[in-house]
Amino acid sequence: MTKRHLITTALPYANGPIHIGHLAGVYVPADIYCRYLRAKGEEVLMVGGSDEHGVPITIKARNENTTPQAIVDRYHEIIKKSFEEFGISFDVYSRTTRPIHHKTASDFFTKLYNDGKLIEKSSEQYYDEEVGEFLADRYITGTCPHCNYEKAYGDQCEACGTSLNATDLIAPKSALSGNTPVMKETHHWYLPLDQYENWLKKWILEGHKEDWKTNVYGQCKSWIEQGLQPRAVTRDLNWGVNVPLADAEGKVLYVWFDAPIGYISATKEWCEQNGQNYEKWWKDEETRMLHFIGKDNIVFHCIIFPVMLKAEGSFIVPENVPANEFLNLENDKISTSRNWAVWLHEYLEDFKDKQDVLRYTLTTIAPETKDSDFTWADFQAKNNNELLAIFGNFVNRTVVLIHKYYEGIVPAAGEYTAEEKELIGKIAEFPHTIGASIEKYRFREALAEFMNLARLGNKYLTDTEPWKVVKTDPERVKTILHLSLQICACLSVLGEPFLPFTSEKLQKILNIDVHAWDEGGKIDLLKAGHKINAAEYLFEKIEDGVIEGQVGKLKLS
Ligand code: MF3
Ligand code: ZN
Repeated sequence: MTKRHLITTALPYANGPIHIGHLAGVYVPADIYCRYLRAKGEEVLMVGGSDEHGVPITIKARNENTTPQAIVDRYHEIIKKSFEEFGISFDVYSRTTRPIHHKTASDFFTKLYNDGKLIEKSSEQYYDEEVGEFLADRYITGTCPHCNYEKAYGDQCEACGTSLNATDLIAPKSALSGNTPVMKETHHWYLPLDQYENWLKKWILEGHKEDWKTNVYGQCKSWIEQGLQPRAVTRDLNWGVNVPLADAEGKVLYVWFDAPIGYISATKEWCEQNGQNYEKWWKDEETRMLHFIGKDNIVFHCIIFPVMLKAEGSFIVPENVPANEFLNLENDKISTSRNWAVWLHEYLEDFKDKQDVLRYTLTTIAPETKDSDFTWADFQAKNNNELLAIFGNFVNRTVVLIHKYYEGIVPAAGEYTAEEKELIGKIAEFPHTIGASIEKYRFREALAEFMNLARLGNKYLTDTEPWKVVKTDPERVKTILHLSLQICACLSVLGEPFLPFTSEKLQKILNIDVHAWDEGGKIDLLKAGHKINAAEYLFEKIEDGVIEGQVGKLKLS
């Protein structure tokens, strides 16, 4: 790899806080990937931000008797702060209500419009005469034609799960006034996806059969083969980016049109602050763009946004879209409305300084190829039986013995045995094996490999028993502990993408500052005579009571 990498992460809606499903599906894998690339010395820009438009935000504001702006201000702060505390290493975390975004999205639309890339069409849509507003599908309720549930929404029935059009509803009602809406003519601008079918077939179906994940490729294939229709990119709504045309009073850009442009706006924002031109990130074939998203976002990132970029004409399209499946919680779907979730900002309060335990657990169960399940019991087991029992225990035993026998000064190694030479050969391979898995977006596998290095260290210490040998052959113990400590240093380098807080703590204990990935396979990061700092526990046991408390909290919801 020698190019520059533009890594985007789905912009979360600013109408609720971040939960573990978001983390496992998008932000943790993207963060591992970016941290790894940085450690490899690559040029990386990790882009994120809050998605602050769209109908659900206006509905929430109405329900709470406040403004959409107040809603997004509240959640943007909560989200941004929780990401920061959790160590998601965004280079920029922006928001789509910023002027720079409105201008970027507006200009993008204008360019497509001026170039004749959009089509204008009239249609009939539900309108609330009392309030004087067109009704978004979410603003209409009625009886589901499939299951007769009386409170179905105009876009979906939550009882039977069928996706609907507002006109399918029996006895429709406006959520604004409760009145029966009338049909009224309106006009919108459409992106003619159908005109890009051949391009999409070539680019995705022929070009990315091998390198895109099968879940992603499969969804694209089925969309493209079903035949694509023109898609409206404007809405009758008063919250969003205004449509920059004369005859567009009361119209805004569709949220799924403006939000992905948020990646561009955020890049611009960062570039302005860092003296760069954003075009090098967006208009240069030497840039590799990747979108980290959840599976519900695939069509927008693989079809609609690329068509927008292609139609605009001067932008690159993504090289890959490593989308994940969904994470469940205690065998049940995560649900914001039912409050069935582990919220990041609450986790950070309840588990101070334990970011890495959650990062670890979520990575080991990342829904890479199918949906997976988070349970608190598993979280506890992963902490107690893996992080603490293997990684923490190995480091602690080594560091304590270095202090006990050598007052914290790294002893020189003598001659290595044949087994040790073999072990050193194995250690040297870890940067490559872990890196190869990360580059294939197999983060679970990468982390398991990392833990294998900790296991090797732990086993080495258990097998060589320096605490016994010290009585008969103290010279030999110097070699053993020298090598053990080098393995600790390798762990601190190679663990950084997964467990950044632990790595930092470990490097403080070891009194080193090493970040280059390839150093993580070397056994000379600590020279004889180097002084290390006092031992500290990397992990602590999580007791049953704590876990019971969390399970109880869930059940309360
Ligand atoms: N807010 C959307 C969601 O949570 C994701 C938007 S991604 C972007 O599903 F590309 F549009 F920004
Ligand atoms: Zn139904």
